[in-house]
Amino acid sequence: MKIAINTGGGDAPGLNAVIRAVVNAAERKGWSVYGIREGYNGFFQPGGIRPLTTEMVRGITPLGGTILGTVNRGNPFEYPTEDGRVVDISEQVVRKFWEQGFDALIVVGGDGSFRIAKRFAEMGIPLVAVPKTIDNDVNATHVTFGFQTAVQTATECLDKLHPHAEAHRRVVCVEVMGRYCGWIALSAGVAATADVILIPEIPYDIEKVCEKIEARWRAGRRFAICVVAEGAYPKEGQMVVLKEELGREVRLGGIAAVVAEEIEKRTGRETRALSLGHLLRGGHPIAYDRVLALEYGTAAVRAIEEGAFGCMVSYDPPNMVFRPIEDGIREIKRVPLDGELIRCAREMGICLGD
Ligand code: F6P
Repeated sequence: MKIAINTGGGDAPGLNAVIRAVVNAAERKGWSVYGIREGYNGFFQPGGIRPLTTEMVRGITPLGGTILGTVNRGNPFEYPTEDGRVVDISEQVVRKFWEQGFDALIVVGGDGSFRIAKRFAEMGIPLVAVPKTIDNDVNATHVTFGFQTAVQTATECLDKLHPHAEAHRRVVCVEVMGRYCGWIALSAGVAATADVILIPEIPYDIEKVCEKIEARWRAGRRFAICVVAEGAYPKEGQMVVLKEELGREVRLGGIAAVVAEEIEKRTGRETRALSLGHLLRGGHPIAYDRVLALEYGTAAVRAIEEGAFGCMVSYDPPNMVFRPIEDGIREIKRVPLDGELIRCAREMGICLGD
């Protein structure tokens, strides 16, 4: 077997561990593995398709980023050209795939990459998808690798902001990524005992947020930490879009600053806002994500061996199973409002903005 692997969309800690697992597991079966650089772009770049050997991937398990590079505006079905047009180059990708003599492709990506992969699978490419995203919003899998590392990073940042907020008697609003889901905000907020956590699943009422802050002041706890998911929005408002660009998803960002301004205006408490942004995608994957990523990678090779094409590797603890790619993208996996994490936050007295 000659298999190809690419990584697409935003980077997430653990991508390199998946690559290493795929190379090691495949080599042990006598297969060869090739890395395609930057999503599907490598098919068209000189040196964009490189053999990967165990020797070459030694020591990459703990590394953040991806040795293959990645893009989040490389959709071959809607490819943005330099002169501002959008063209479909999917047929060329399929042709290149077969010309290279590949037998299978492993696509490591989030929901956007899965949508692309599904279409390529329909065009006949034998492929297997591995879910990746710090947002943890891919459906049909218990958890994606990268998520727990992002939560860990966010938690450490919140821990560092606590003494600062307390020393200055301030409200600090911290924005975290997560796109349309509040997994990172809620998990890190609970872990770091935030006072307020705002997530897209619960449109917030600023009055409730201010009430919570005032209650803290009255109780003598004259500081507050608010964790704000980038996709959070007020009851009668909308998500804050930072930028809209051709051929890519809208970029969210700026809601923490909006919340901070409202809090300061309504309560008179000194308030600061900051965004952790791409910090959450960086750093070494924590052990949990390394193990998870290695399991996803070895399972992807097993999926190819079993001929489970058009499938995603799905974590159904304690096992990795194979499910149709469409299961992963039918809907995004949002934080369940009746789930334990929400219950825990509420019962701890954390304000969720409602
Ligand atoms: O999907 C991962 C993610 O980091 C989201 O949390 C965030 O909204 C988006 O990617 C940011 O993308 P970009 O890398 O284009 O800024």
